[in-house]
Amino acid sequence: MQIFDPSAFVPEIFSGNTAEIRCRAWYSIPYAEHRVSPELQILHIFIPEEYFHGGSISGYTARTAPIFFPNAVGGYMEARPCRPCVHPDGTFNTEAAALAHGYVVISAGVRGKNSQTDGRSVGKAPAAIVDLKAAVRFIRSISDKICGDPEKIIANGTSAGGALSALLASSGDSPLYTDLLNGIGAVKESDRIFAASCYCPITNLENSDTAYEWQYGHLSGQYDYRWERDGDGWKVTTVVNPVPEERMALSAMLRRAFPEYLNRTAPHGLTLDEDGNGSFAEHIKKLILDSAKQAARYGEQIPAESGVSLTEENVDFLKYCTFITRMKSPCAFDDPDLLTYENDLFGSEDTGRRHFTQFGYEHSLCCGERAPEETVFLMNAMNFLKNEGCAQYWRIRHGAADRDTSFAVPVLLAECLRDAGKTVDFALPWGIPHSGDYDLPELFAWIDRICR
Ligand code: DHB
Repeated sequence: MQIFDPSAFVPEIFSGNTAEIRCRAWYSIPYAEHRVSPELQILHIFIPEEYFHGGSISGYTARTAPIFFPNAVGGYMEARPCRPCVHPDGTFNTEAAALAHGYVVISAGVRGKNSQTDGRSVGKAPAAIVDLKAAVRFIRSISDKICGDPEKIIANGTSAGGALSALLASSGDSPLYTDLLNGIGAVKESDRIFAASCYCPITNLENSDTAYEWQYGHLSGQYDYRWERDGDGWKVTTVVNPVPEERMALSAMLRRAFPEYLNRTAPHGLTLDEDGNGSFAEHIKKLILDSAKQAARYGEQIPAESGVSLTEENVDFLKYCTFITRMKSPCAFDDPDLLTYENDLFGSEDTGRRHFTQFGYEHSLCCGERAPEETVFLMNAMNFLKNEGCAQYWRIRHGAADRDTSFAVPVLLAECLRDAGKTVDFALPWGIPHSGDYDLPELFAWIDRICR
């Protein structure tokens, strides 16, 4: 295992239009001994220069600065470590903004569904979470050689990266990953973290198909965008694909299965009747209403077609879902033709793609195999909310116009966390599609509140 050399840094300057950041950077530090993807299983460390001269930023010092730990995972693909940069318009990206705010920034590369070494798949589930945990352990092991408080590690990610952020935070020190961590030669340290920031986490994959049809099962058209070259720019048109009848039949079955799961998981009395109505649906409607009210306070017009009436304080949920449209056709995640990111994620070293739910497996149109249940279990943050090493602080954002997974997924995560005694900051920000890092001042204010 390579020893971390504190003197081997690169001085960096990031000049934005509002500020200039000077920092020390350590690039491409291996975080585990037996790496199967040596070019991915590395991390970058960025520390504000002030901390090496006794200075402080936003009230933090070399010892107290939180460690912001973003990942760049999208679509469950492999990802290189994030790094600070200045956008062409002079604004800072997330990592540069975090440095300017006084955080130590550390980001790890992780394996993903597309990772190959010598023609072998090496990044199928649960590789990505094993890598993030190994990186956290490595950070702890060198914490006396760098700045930042190893007990204030805050993960950040979007979509699949948001799901991994949630899983990292919930599964801290879970013994279920020990063998896998030993397998890549991870340092023997704690992999608990302090907090998670999760933008549109695509988690709870084994219940996402039923949740999706609970929300969108009344819609038999799937909306796609077609991008076409238009002179120097692009023209975007919306295309509506009718969902085939046999898929709508699957939708009806999945839709009926969701209330049973929800009631079994039952966060503090939120329930659904067999038609999918009840206090859980009312709770989501209230979140949408709160979102619209907040947007209206900032001058946003709330269109009548949205089904949201601010005067009547009411949300017509079916109308709202029709308004934001269905993005995926049933089965949205465990596809009968094995075509989704998730089917790929749960593939094995030699079979490219597999099912990961009983329903998907039974309705396979390509005689697909099924991933082991233990593997699927290790990818779902929901399975670790009562784990002793589960982080205390959570910030979850899912855009109110995000159709990549049902609202039920992040809402259930938030409510089950609250049931487990965790402190959760949750919102469905109005008009926001599938995306992340769109509210950095609020994100940093939340980090400052929980760290002080
Ligand atoms: C992502 C988006 C999806 O719709 C999905 O199913 C999985 C991952 C993503 O953007 O990371």
